[in-house]
Order: sequence, then C-alpha cells, then structure tokens
Amino acid sequence: MWREWIPFWHAGISPYGGDVDLLFVGLVLVSGLVLALLFFLLLYFCIRYRAGNDVDRCNHDEKSWRLEVGWTSASMLAFLGLFIWGAVVFLNIYRTPGDELTVFVVAQQWMWKVQHAGGQAEINAMHVPVNRPIKLVMASQDVIHSFFIPALRLKHDVVPGRYQDIELQIRRPGHYHLFCAEYCGTDHSRMLGEVVAMEPADYTTWLNEQGPSNSLAQGGEALFRTLGCSGCHEGSQAVHAPSLAGLYGKPVPLSDGSVVTADEKYIRDSILLPRSQIAAGYQPIMPSFEGRVSEAQLLQLVAYVKSLADRQP
Ligand code: CUA
Repeated sequence: MWREWIPFWHAGISPYGGDVDLLFVGLVLVSGLVLALLFFLLLYFCIRYRAGNDVDRCNHDEKSWRLEVGWTSASMLAFLGLFIWGAVVFLNIYRTPGDELTVFVVAQQWMWKVQHAGGQAEINAMHVPVNRPIKLVMASQDVIHSFFIPALRLKHDVVPGRYQDIELQIRRPGHYHLFCAEYCGTDHSRMLGEVVAMEPADYTTWLNEQGPSNSLAQGGEALFRTLGCSGCHEGSQAVHAPSLAGLYGKPVPLSDGSVVTADEKYIRDSILLPRSQIAAGYQPIMPSFEGRVSEAQLLQLVAYVKSLADRQP
C-alpha cells in the first residue's frame, strides 16, 4: 500500500490506528502550512512597511475579486476536505459493532468493572483475545466517564442511563493502558486500568482459570425469578405480557406503529422505562425497575434475555 512509503509509518495495533495517525499528521501539516503563510506575511509586511522605507503607502480602492474568491474557496475546500476525511475515519471506528463476542464494562467512581459472558469479572483490567472483533457494551453507574485506550486510538464516553456499544479489535498481544478521559471527581486520575490482549488459546485458558462461577445469563435467570419478572413473562400467566423467548435481535412492532430491534439498549430501556416503548398488543402495566437494579444486575438480566434468543416463543 502507498502508506508504507511514508517515513516512520506503522499500521498501529488496531485496524484503524493508522487511519487516525494519518489524519492527525494531515491536520498538523495543514495547520502548519497556514501558520507558515501567516508568519511569512507578517514578517514580510513588517519589513516592507518599516518606518523610513520608501514605499507606496496610499490606500488603494480597487480590489482583486479573483484573488478574494480564490483564497476563500481554496481554504474552504481544504478544511471541508479535512472534515470529510475525519468524518469517514470516525464513522469507520464507531460503526455499529457485530455481535460475535460481547464484553460488558461498568464504569463507576473510580474503577472499571469488566464482566465476561461466562461470569468472569475483573476490576481495572480487561482480558481479550487478539484479532477478533469484540463488542463492548458500556454503562456508567454514576457520572460521565470516558473509556480511552490510547494505543488503539479508541475513546468513547460512558454515560449514565444508557448503553454505549463500540467495537474493539487488537492485532498484537500485549498490555495496553486504559484511562478515564473525562473528569469524574476526586480520584479521576487514579481511574486506570489495563487491557491484556492474548492469543486465542491463552484467552481460553485464562477464562477457564477464573474458577467456576455462574455465567451472566445464569445470574440473570436467578434475578428474573427473585424480582418477579417470571410471574408475567413466563409460562401460564394470568397477566398478559410478551414472552421473552426468541426475542433478542428480532424486530419488535410497537403500539405506536414503529418497529425497533430488540438489542441490549432496547432490553435495558424496557426494564427501566417500560412505558416508553410498548410492544404492540400489550397494555402498559409493567412497573419500572429504575433504582431497584444496579448496572451489574441489569447486565445479568440483559444477558439472560439474550440467552433466550434461540428458544421458540
Ligand atoms: Cu472516570 Cu474520570
């Protein structure tokens, strides 16, 4: 590829790391050129119109429209080009992730809690396999945090009250810094973590070494019973509520005529704000669980509903 001819070029350890670096260099170059032009003109006029220099100082009225239109449109095109370039890179990084391997991240003052689908939990560390797209579903327990892995050129805010999903892919095994990049209180500067990228075989070994634990979905199933969700959503029920079997990933017709996809965000909203999106044909009778379940419990419930995806309704 032509990029390999750039001095000091390296492709980065994420699929888009090189694109971000190139964009950065492009921005610096264009800004540097504009700066150089400005300083050149500044110095030039300083010297040319210095006191005692015999030059024409009368105020000319005529204007060169060609020059005026020329430099205005040239700079507009240049900066619009930079904008489009940046937008393409942005959309490429933050496109909707696939659903292959999901890792859940809960941010709170002042730590990162990471949950794997098998129930393995970590604090301020995240183990992932290399060369595989990983979907991160992130939520905040309290204030706005920002998930930042400089080596991957990846940064995304983690906002309370909703899920953010981004895709992560690492090309080389290693340990990478994880920072919180949004000021979030006293110990913001200590909200650090580490991303450990491993060969797939090592990753499997690591998962198994974490000791027997209930998977997220199993935890969610237990909650599903203790919170009383199963009373309405399962089996022969007196209350009319939609079955959750086979729901995940499917389109859901709503009572207002629109259709949404049952993804993590939809399930989360349905638990916390059940009246905002009512499935067609059902009454808005479900109580809200806002304040009754923590982010970690929500993740378990979501994982449980997800695990029912293959079942027959
Ligand atoms: Cu969390 Cu800064």
